[in-house]
This record gives sequence, structure tokens and C-alpha cells, in this order.
Amino acid sequence: MRQDGPTPIVILTGAGISKESGLDTFRDADGIWAKVDLEDVATPQGFRRDPARVHAFYNHRRAGLTDPVIVPNAAHAAIARLQAEWPEEVMLVTQNIDDLHERGGSRDVLHMHGELLKARCGQCAGVSVWRDDLDLDSACPHCGTAGGMRPHVVWFGETPFYMAEVEAALQRCGLFISIGTSGNVYPAAGFVAQARMAGRAHTVELNLEPSEGASLFHECRHGPATEVVPAFVEELLGR
Ligand code: APR
Repeated sequence: MRQDGPTPIVILTGAGISKESGLDTFRDADGIWAKVDLEDVATPQGFRRDPARVHAFYNHRRAGLTDPVIVPNAAHAAIARLQAEWPEEVMLVTQNIDDLHERGGSRDVLHMHGELLKARCGQCAGVSVWRDDLDLDSACPHCGTAGGMRPHVVWFGETPFYMAEVEAALQRCGLFISIGTSGNVYPAAGFVAQARMAGRAHTVELNLEPSEGASLFHECRHGPATEVVPAFVEELLGR
């Protein structure tokens, strides 16, 4: 691992970091998209066509996430430790809509694909914490309008959040670490190239197996996140 001393770090995570906590990934053989068509439940068109079906899909995932058996794992804890102990900025941007990074001790988590435990009002755009079922007549806590609530999740064809902040951080980081993502979905899949184009970033993939973009990284370490992430953080922190 080439590291010229403390430098700003950008970390990108995907569903693979939450797999060992018991949450399904999307494109593994047993993944979410093997069981349901993303066009039906993860697009604005799907929501317009059958909102009850989309609510049922996210209600099932929300109930799963709030089950006490689902807890952060050693990879989430290692990232929180790095954020706490690294002397330079550490930006954590995640494609995940779960709250395991926060529960694992991370702060300032940028959820570029939104958050499963929040809902957004189609009338006032107010975003509210939402841990129970959301349905067709749920009322907005901000404006009181009933019937216009949706999951605060970014669907295919919609614009991810925080892109300006992430792109600026990629320009100035000296280390880009991609964890638990298949590199299939843009713009996240393009972050490694953006970090490299800026000229100074060392880029590392920590994933169970080579991702679609593995050849774009200077360094790849393959294995379960709960093994490769703590080991990498230990090395970075020098102990
Ligand atoms: N440890 C590390 N990596 C793992 C583990 C594990 N225990 N288990 C699986 N992985 C890896 C897989 O090998 C795969 O490369 O995690 C990756 C998960 O890839 P995807 O299922 O495609 O999930 P992700 O990359 O996060 O998907 C990106 O696509 O469907 C959209 O919005 C959704 O945010 C999601 C986006």
C-alpha cells in the first residue's frame, strides 16, 4: 500500500459491507434483484404504476432493517474508527440506504441513494424519519398532506444526493477506498476514475471478489468485508 502520510480519504461503500450483518445485496445470486424486478419497485414509473407494490417492497425491507437481529459488523466499526483517528478528512459516501454506518459509530454519512428509514412528501418535499410501514394514505408530518408520501430513496433515473460534495472530495483526496460494491451502477462506479484523474489518489478496492471496475484500482484486496476492512484500517493507522 503506497501512502505518503496523512491525506484526505474518500470511502465509498455498497451493499457488500452490510451482507455479513444479514442484509441482502442486489446482484449476488441470492440478491434482491434476483427476487423482484427493479423496474417495478425502484423506478418512478414503477411507483406511478403501482404505489402499493412499491410501499410493500420498502416496508418489507424497513421491517427487516429494524429487526434487532440486524446489527453493524466489524467493517462498519473499522470505518468509524478510521474516521475518528485519521488526522485528515475522511468522507464516507454510501450507496446503502441502511443505517448500519451510523449505528456502527460513523458520523456525516452521505447517503447518495437516500435512506430507508426516511420518507419524503410529494407535496412539500419535507423529509421525515420513518421506521414503520408507509402506505397510500400516510400523512406528511410537516404539512399534514395525506397520500403523497414516498420512500426517501433514489430510484433508477433519479439524481443521487451529494454529488457536488463527493466530486470535490474526489479531486482532493490522496486515498480512495471502495468497499462492497459491484461497480455496476453510476455515478458511484465512476468515482475511482474521477479520483485517479485528479492525479494523486491511491485507489483501493476491498470486496469479496473482483468488481466490474477492479482493473481501475491500484490495489485490490478480496475477502469478506469483516476481514479485509479492519485489516486495511489497522495498516493505515499504523497498528
Ligand atoms: N464482503 C465484501 N463484499 C461483499 C460481501 C462481503 N461479505 N458479500 C458480497 N460482497 C460484494 C459482492 O461481490 C458485490 O461485488 O458486494 C458487492 C455487492 O454488489 P451489488 O449487489 O451490486 O450492490 P451495490 O454495488 O451496492 O449496488 C449499487 O445498485 O441496485 C442499486 O441502488 C442499488 O445502491 C445499489 C446500487
